Amino acid sequence: METKILATTESDLEQAAAIIAAGGLVAFPTETVYGLGADALNAEAVASVYAAKGRPSDNPMIVHISAIDELSRLTVEVSEDMKLLAGELWPGPLTMVMKKSAAVPLRTTGGLDTVAVRMPDNRTALELIRRSGCAIAAPSANISGRPSPTRAKDVIQDMDGRIDAIVEGEDCRVGIESTVVDMTGDTPVILRPGIITPHRIAEILKKDVVYDEFLLAGGAAAGGADKNMRPKAPGMKYKHYAPKAEMVIVEGEDEKVRAELLRLQAQKESCGMKTGLIMFGERDFAEAAHDFFARLRDLDNEGVDIIIAGALSESDEVGFAVMNRMLKSAGYNIVKV
Ligand code: TXA
Ligand code: MG
Repeated sequence: METKILATTESDLEQAAAIIAAGGLVAFPTETVYGLGADALNAEAVASVYAAKGRPSDNPMIVHISAIDELSRLTVEVSEDMKLLAGELWPGPLTMVMKKSAAVPLRTTGGLDTVAVRMPDNRTALELIRRSGCAIAAPSANISGRPSPTRAKDVIQDMDGRIDAIVEGEDCRVGIESTVVDMTGDTPVILRPGIITPHRIAEILKKDVVYDEFLLAGGAAAGGADKNMRPKAPGMKYKHYAPKAEMVIVEGEDEKVRAELLRLQAQKESCGMKTGLIMFGERDFAEAAHDFFARLRDLDNEGVDIIIAGALSESDEVGFAVMNRMLKSAGYNIVKV
């Protein structure tokens, strides 16, 4: 398949929107990561997204809208809490899980009776959704298991030849995927951490917000979770974000971590390995979020054999969100100093 590379001009966005409306696949920028979009209410189009990504079909997709009133097509009831969060945080990197309407195919929700919805804070994305007249189902635009794409070139690397078009926009401002919050119960539950923190949500709703237990246990791969525990966001159980290189995380006090990174680097290089280091400033959590996936991809492209990364503090909510990705990337391979 030949993949069209489109710009963000009006005429190119019109083309991209027509492809979506006709059941095709278009990758596009959002503020978090690039998405791989299809008409969310067209089961066949959605099925082709799974095929293009090589993704297991029980992993549900996030449905993107361009205006709050489009929610009424996707869900049976918009609660007061949902209205409050949408009013304060949309457009933005927050996804809300809610009861789905009959219009949403089970293909889109991976067989669940709930649907995940967000309004992205990106002009190109909003224009594309609006012009297509569709709600757009979009997982991250990477081959399943690879680091999420935060730049157009990352999308081209993974998706060229597999989809109809790629809208080449700017680099993603946030760099990690949206916060996913389950709004189906009285207490909102964070299923995937992101830069919108539980504190922020609690402050808006004036009620407690909790992390999903499976998420806190680090997921099945961490070995911390009970095998009988079923993740509520099915995406959490898969191998994720993995670079081609081997990866190890060093955790501990900042000074000691820096020393250990250098020691490990020297040791690996002396065995003839090509090494790559990832070390963010101790308190630069937003910058770490912004750079993390791009760093992984750059190091892979440089052909390094091993990536040695310094852990971030998980007591910070954004640090926790980045560590959620970093631990999965490294397959939970961690040394403590
Ligand atoms: O920032 C983002 O959210 C990006 C951009 C493109 O918008 N999208 C994204 O999609 O990260 P994806 O497919 O890579 O991740 C979707 C996550 C998965 O962890 C999935 O299991 C969860 O959302 N999810 C989707 N629908 C759900 C549902 N009905 N119930 C629980 N979790 C759901
Ligand atoms: Mg993804």
